[in-house]
Amino acid sequence: MSVATAFDRIHQYLESSGAGSARLLKPGFVERRLRIRYRAVGVTGPEGYADCLDRDPEERTRLAATVTLGVTSFFRDPTLWRWLAGVVAVAPAACWRGWSAGTATGEEAWSLASVMAALAESSRVDDWRVLGSDIDETHLEAARRGQYPGRPIPAYADRVSFERDDLTESRPRGPFEIVLCRNVMIYFGPEGQRRILESVTRALAPGGLLVLGKAEFLPADGKHGLILVDRTERAYRRVT
Ligand SMILES: C[S@@+](CC[C@H](N)C(=O)[O-])C[C@H]1O[C@@H](n2cnc3c(N)ncnc32)[C@H](O)[C@@H]1O
Repeated sequence: MSVATAFDRIHQYLESSGAGSARLLKPGFVERRLRIRYRAVGVTGPEGYADCLDRDPEERTRLAATVTLGVTSFFRDPTLWRWLAGVVAVAPAACWRGWSAGTATGEEAWSLASVMAALAESSRVDDWRVLGSDIDETHLEAARRGQYPGRPIPAYADRVSFERDDLTESRPRGPFEIVLCRNVMIYFGPEGQRRILESVTRALAPGGLLVLGKAEFLPADGKHGLILVDRTERAYRRVT
Protein backbone atom coordinates (compact mmCIF):
# COMPACT_ATOMS: atom_id res chain seq x y z
CA MET A 1 0.00 0.00 0.00
CA SER A 2 1.38 3.45 -0.94
CA VAL A 3 1.68 6.26 1.62
CA ALA A 4 -0.98 8.27 -0.28
CA THR A 5 -3.43 5.35 -0.17
CA ALA A 6 -2.73 4.89 3.55
CA PHE A 7 -3.45 8.58 4.20
CA ASP A 8 -6.67 8.28 2.20
CA ARG A 9 -7.81 5.42 4.40
CA ILE A 10 -6.90 7.29 7.58
CA HIS A 11 -8.83 10.33 6.34
CA GLN A 12 -11.84 8.15 5.53
CA TYR A 13 -11.82 6.74 9.05
CA LEU A 14 -11.62 10.28 10.44
CA GLU A 15 -14.60 11.41 8.41
CA SER A 16 -16.73 8.40 9.21
CA SER A 17 -15.99 8.84 12.94
CA GLY A 18 -17.69 12.25 12.81
CA ALA A 19 -14.49 14.30 13.22
CA GLY A 20 -15.07 16.18 9.95
CA SER A 21 -12.89 16.44 6.90
CA ALA A 22 -9.18 16.11 7.70
CA ARG A 23 -8.42 17.70 4.32
CA LEU A 24 -9.68 21.03 5.64
CA LEU A 25 -7.31 20.94 8.62
CA LYS A 26 -3.73 22.27 8.47
CA PRO A 27 -1.59 19.39 7.10
CA GLY A 28 1.17 20.03 9.66
CA PHE A 29 -1.35 19.80 12.51
CA VAL A 30 -2.76 16.49 11.20
CA GLU A 31 0.76 15.06 10.75
CA ARG A 32 1.82 16.02 14.29
CA ARG A 33 -1.34 14.52 15.77
CA LEU A 34 -1.00 11.32 13.71
CA ARG A 35 2.60 10.85 14.82
CA ILE A 36 1.34 10.72 18.42
CA ARG A 37 -0.99 7.87 17.46
CA TYR A 38 1.74 6.03 15.47
CA ARG A 39 3.94 6.04 18.58
CA ALA A 40 1.07 4.99 20.85
CA VAL A 41 0.18 1.92 18.77
CA GLY A 42 3.81 1.07 17.92
CA VAL A 43 3.88 1.65 14.15
CA THR A 44 6.31 3.77 12.14
CA GLY A 45 4.06 5.39 9.56
CA PRO A 46 0.67 5.73 7.84
CA GLU A 47 0.66 2.23 6.28
CA GLY A 48 1.00 0.45 9.62
CA TYR A 49 -1.47 2.83 11.21
CA ALA A 50 -4.13 2.35 8.49
CA ASP A 51 -3.87 -1.44 9.08
CA CYS A 52 -4.26 -0.85 12.79
CA LEU A 53 -7.42 1.20 12.15
CA ASP A 54 -8.83 -1.64 10.03
CA ARG A 55 -8.41 -4.01 12.96
CA ASP A 56 -9.26 -1.85 15.97
CA PRO A 57 -12.53 0.13 16.29
CA GLU A 58 -11.33 1.69 19.58
CA GLU A 59 -8.32 3.15 17.81
CA ARG A 60 -10.73 4.82 15.36
CA THR A 61 -12.34 6.61 18.31
CA ARG A 62 -8.91 7.64 19.62
CA LEU A 63 -7.96 8.91 16.17
CA ALA A 64 -11.02 11.20 16.10
CA ALA A 65 -10.24 12.51 19.59
CA THR A 66 -6.69 13.27 18.61
CA VAL A 67 -7.72 15.92 16.04
CA THR A 68 -10.63 17.45 17.98
CA LEU A 69 -8.52 18.97 20.72
CA GLY A 70 -10.83 20.16 23.47
CA VAL A 71 -8.46 22.46 25.35
CA THR A 72 -10.58 25.10 27.07
CA SER A 73 -11.28 26.69 30.44
CA PHE A 74 -13.76 28.91 32.24
CA PHE A 75 -13.25 32.61 31.45
CA ARG A 76 -10.34 31.84 29.13
CA ASP A 77 -8.67 35.21 28.33
CA PRO A 78 -10.06 37.02 31.39
CA THR A 79 -10.08 40.54 29.89
CA LEU A 80 -12.51 39.41 27.20
CA TRP A 81 -15.27 38.66 29.70
CA ARG A 82 -15.03 42.06 31.41
CA TRP A 83 -15.03 43.72 28.00
CA LEU A 84 -18.03 41.67 26.84
CA ALA A 85 -20.06 42.41 29.99
CA GLY A 86 -19.38 46.13 29.46
CA VAL A 87 -20.52 46.03 25.83
CA VAL A 88 -23.68 44.02 26.55
CA ALA A 89 -24.60 46.21 29.54
CA VAL A 90 -24.87 49.34 27.41
CA ALA A 91 -26.31 47.89 24.19
CA PRO A 92 -30.09 47.57 24.10
CA ALA A 93 -31.46 44.25 22.86
CA ALA A 94 -34.73 42.58 23.88
CA CYS A 95 -33.04 39.20 23.92
CA TRP A 96 -29.34 38.36 23.83
CA ARG A 97 -28.77 35.12 21.99
CA GLY A 98 -25.21 33.86 22.36
CA TRP A 99 -23.44 31.06 20.53
CA SER A 100 -20.21 29.41 21.58
CA ALA A 101 -19.17 27.77 18.28
CA GLY A 102 -16.58 25.04 18.85
CA THR A 103 -17.30 25.08 22.57
CA ALA A 104 -15.43 21.82 23.38
CA THR A 105 -16.57 20.68 26.86
CA GLY A 106 -18.74 23.77 27.33
CA GLU A 107 -16.77 26.01 29.69
CA GLU A 108 -16.93 28.87 27.18
CA ALA A 109 -20.73 28.57 26.81
CA TRP A 110 -21.20 28.41 30.59
CA SER A 111 -18.88 31.42 31.05
CA LEU A 112 -21.00 33.43 28.61
CA ALA A 113 -24.14 32.25 30.40
CA SER A 114 -22.80 33.40 33.74
CA VAL A 115 -22.01 36.88 32.33
CA MET A 116 -25.56 37.08 30.95
CA ALA A 117 -27.11 35.85 34.19
CA ALA A 118 -25.24 38.50 36.19
CA LEU A 119 -26.37 41.23 33.78
CA ALA A 120 -29.97 39.97 33.93
CA GLU A 121 -29.85 40.05 37.72
CA SER A 122 -28.84 43.70 37.65
CA SER A 123 -31.63 44.38 35.08
CA ARG A 124 -29.21 45.32 32.30
CA VAL A 125 -30.36 42.38 30.17
CA ASP A 126 -34.02 41.35 29.84
CA ASP A 127 -33.82 37.93 28.30
CA TRP A 128 -31.00 35.70 27.11
CA ARG A 129 -30.10 32.24 25.80
CA VAL A 130 -26.79 30.53 25.09
CA LEU A 131 -26.11 27.72 22.62
CA GLY A 132 -22.87 25.76 22.65
CA SER A 133 -21.93 23.59 19.68
CA ASP A 134 -19.09 21.33 18.70
CA ILE A 135 -18.29 18.62 16.18
CA ASP A 136 -17.19 16.18 18.89
CA GLU A 137 -20.01 14.31 20.68
CA THR A 138 -17.74 13.24 23.55
CA HIS A 139 -16.96 16.86 24.36
CA LEU A 140 -20.67 17.68 24.11
CA GLU A 141 -21.65 14.96 26.57
CA ALA A 142 -19.47 16.68 29.19
CA ALA A 143 -20.86 20.09 28.21
CA ARG A 144 -24.46 18.91 28.58
CA ARG A 145 -23.78 17.38 32.00
CA GLY A 146 -22.52 20.80 33.08
CA GLN A 147 -20.78 19.23 36.06
CA TYR A 148 -17.40 20.82 36.63
CA PRO A 149 -15.26 20.30 39.72
CA GLY A 150 -16.17 22.81 42.43
CA ARG A 151 -19.05 24.30 40.42
CA PRO A 152 -22.70 23.57 41.20
CA ILE A 153 -25.11 23.38 38.26
CA PRO A 154 -26.38 26.96 38.01
CA ALA A 155 -30.03 27.99 38.40
CA TYR A 156 -30.05 29.30 34.83
CA ALA A 157 -29.09 25.93 33.27
CA ASP A 158 -32.38 25.78 31.33
CA ARG A 159 -31.20 28.78 29.28
CA VAL A 160 -28.15 26.90 28.03
CA SER A 161 -28.26 24.17 25.38
CA PHE A 162 -25.77 22.19 23.33
CA GLU A 163 -25.87 20.61 19.89
CA ARG A 164 -23.56 18.94 17.43
CA ASP A 165 -22.58 21.16 14.52
CA ASP A 166 -19.79 20.92 11.95
CA LEU A 167 -18.86 24.54 11.28
CA THR A 168 -17.38 23.68 7.89
CA GLU A 169 -20.86 22.71 6.66
CA SER A 170 -23.11 25.34 5.15
CA ARG A 171 -26.58 25.47 6.74
CA PRO A 172 -28.85 28.10 8.28
CA ARG A 173 -27.94 29.07 11.86
CA GLY A 174 -28.93 31.83 14.25
CA PRO A 175 -29.47 34.72 14.36
CA PHE A 176 -27.26 35.47 17.37
CA GLU A 177 -26.30 38.79 18.94
CA ILE A 178 -22.98 37.30 20.13
CA VAL A 179 -20.92 34.57 18.51
CA LEU A 180 -17.73 33.28 20.12
CA CYS A 181 -15.65 31.19 17.73
CA ARG A 182 -12.32 31.01 19.48
CA ASN A 183 -9.39 28.70 18.91
CA VAL A 184 -11.14 26.61 16.26
CA MET A 185 -9.96 28.19 12.99
CA ILE A 186 -6.30 27.94 14.03
CA TYR A 187 -6.39 24.22 13.22
CA PHE A 188 -7.74 24.76 9.69
CA GLY A 189 -6.19 25.58 6.32
CA PRO A 190 -7.51 28.44 4.14
CA GLU A 191 -10.57 26.61 2.76
CA GLY A 192 -11.63 25.35 6.22
CA GLN A 193 -11.15 28.83 7.71
CA ARG A 194 -13.20 30.37 4.90
CA ARG A 195 -16.08 27.94 5.50
CA ILE A 196 -16.04 28.45 9.27
CA LEU A 197 -15.97 32.23 8.93
CA GLU A 198 -18.89 32.07 6.54
CA SER A 199 -20.89 29.92 8.99
CA VAL A 200 -20.32 32.19 11.95
CA THR A 201 -20.73 35.54 10.17
CA ARG A 202 -23.95 34.43 8.46
CA ALA A 203 -25.33 33.46 11.87
CA LEU A 204 -24.84 36.98 13.27
CA ALA A 205 -27.83 39.27 13.72
CA PRO A 206 -27.30 42.74 12.21
CA GLY A 207 -25.05 44.64 14.63
CA GLY A 208 -24.05 41.35 16.29
CA LEU A 209 -20.59 40.71 17.74
CA LEU A 210 -18.14 38.03 16.63
CA VAL A 211 -15.20 37.19 18.89
CA LEU A 212 -12.28 35.11 17.60
CA GLY A 213 -9.37 33.57 19.52
CA LYS A 214 -6.28 35.59 20.38
CA ALA A 215 -4.27 34.01 17.56
CA GLU A 216 -7.02 34.45 14.97
CA PHE A 217 -7.78 37.33 12.61
CA LEU A 218 -10.25 37.99 9.85
CA PRO A 219 -8.65 38.31 6.41
CA ALA A 220 -8.43 42.03 5.58
CA ASP A 221 -10.44 41.64 2.36
CA GLY A 222 -13.52 43.35 3.81
CA LYS A 223 -15.67 40.56 2.38
CA HIS A 224 -17.37 39.54 5.58
CA GLY A 225 -19.39 42.67 6.32
CA LEU A 226 -17.64 42.99 9.68
CA ILE A 227 -15.67 45.83 11.27
CA LEU A 228 -13.03 45.43 13.94
CA VAL A 229 -14.29 46.90 17.21
CA ASP A 230 -11.54 45.76 19.57
CA ARG A 231 -8.20 44.47 18.33
CA THR A 232 -7.03 43.09 21.70
CA GLU A 233 -10.21 41.08 22.18
CA ARG A 234 -10.41 40.09 18.48
CA ALA A 235 -13.98 41.42 18.42
CA TYR A 236 -15.84 42.33 15.24
CA ARG A 237 -19.29 43.79 14.62
CA ARG A 238 -21.58 42.89 11.73
CA VAL A 239 -22.38 46.02 9.78
CA THR A 240 -24.29 44.68 6.77
C1 LIG B 1 -9.33 24.19 21.31
S1 LIG B 1 -11.06 23.90 21.40
C2 LIG B 1 -11.67 25.54 21.66
C3 LIG B 1 -12.68 25.59 22.80
C4 LIG B 1 -13.17 27.00 23.13
N1 LIG B 1 -13.74 27.65 21.99
C5 LIG B 1 -12.06 27.83 23.72
O1 LIG B 1 -11.51 28.67 23.03
O2 LIG B 1 -11.71 27.62 24.90
C6 LIG B 1 -11.45 23.60 19.67
C7 LIG B 1 -12.79 22.88 19.49
O3 LIG B 1 -13.18 22.98 18.13
C8 LIG B 1 -13.87 21.80 17.80
N2 LIG B 1 -13.94 21.64 16.35
C9 LIG B 1 -12.96 21.21 15.52
N3 LIG B 1 -13.43 21.16 14.25
C10 LIG B 1 -14.71 21.59 14.29
C11 LIG B 1 -15.71 21.77 13.31
N4 LIG B 1 -15.48 21.49 12.01
N5 LIG B 1 -16.93 22.22 13.71
C12 LIG B 1 -17.18 22.48 15.00
N6 LIG B 1 -16.26 22.33 15.99
C13 LIG B 1 -15.05 21.89 15.63
C14 LIG B 1 -13.07 20.71 18.49
O4 LIG B 1 -13.84 19.54 18.66
C15 LIG B 1 -12.72 21.40 19.82
O5 LIG B 1 -13.64 21.07 20.81
